[in-house]
Amino acid sequence: MKRIAFFDSGLGGITVLKEAMTQLPHEQFLYYADTKHVPYGSKPKEDVKRFILDAAADIMRHDIKALVVACNTATSIAIAELRVRYAIPIVGMEPAVKPAVEMNRPLGRRVLVLATALTLRESKYHELVNRVDDLSIVDSLPLPELVPYCEALQFDEAVLADYFRRQFEPYDLNEYGTLVLGCTHYPFYRQLLAKLVPPHISIIDGSRGTVRRLRELLSAHSLLNDTGSGDAGVQWMCSGRDGEYIRKMQQALELYASGRLFEE
Ligand code: DGL
Repeated sequence: MKRIAFFDSGLGGITVLKEAMTQLPHEQFLYYADTKHVPYGSKPKEDVKRFILDAAADIMRHDIKALVVACNTATSIAIAELRVRYAIPIVGMEPAVKPAVEMNRPLGRRVLVLATALTLRESKYHELVNRVDDLSIVDSLPLPELVPYCEALQFDEAVLADYFRRQFEPYDLNEYGTLVLGCTHYPFYRQLLAKLVPPHISIIDGSRGTVRRLRELLSAHSLLNDTGSGDAGVQWMCSGRDGEYIRKMQQALELYASGRLFEE
């Protein structure tokens, strides 16, 4: 049985993997973290593109049936090139700006997109916002420290709450109806964000839509396993020679799946 590969710079893609394990319980998964180069979001585009193409070549040495680029930054920079290079189904991530705008336009509220600096600089993001944000209600906020926090498994509530409060200081959050998590690392902090922002604000990310699209593509290519036992454990891989990181990935999945990273 061929596996579905998930790729991210580090731990972020685990939030998408978890969604896939729920929606596709009969499949088997491989998870690849580019630990040699994490974080991507604060590095120059051309370097990051090379890292992604190298990582993809590494992943493709395994006999996989589909690839999920479980990283918004990598999707915006290299998804087109990956699709040219490889014939298997490839699914990417995109900040959920469109549903957020549709939800908030009639309410007269604004949308705040949180993502890496690189994602927010890319033309793919600007084209998306120009296409859907006709009333100019979308604002964008890069959070460069958040991926390093997550990679260090920093889930101390006081440290993170202080960090987020400082980032949100320039905004009147009462004007906003939705936070879009446009980086796959950020859902690790969803529970805490929900405690910090006004209660009417919804917090959305793209993982459910991405996994739904994966399912459609697998089905269209007759690659979907919808019976039998799938979950024989995730095959964990990383680009750096860091055996301990495998344990860290497993721990991050357990923590995220527990839904109890922060107290209610
Ligand atoms: N998790 C990634 C994303 O969705 C990238 C984080 C990083 O390496 O900066 O954008």
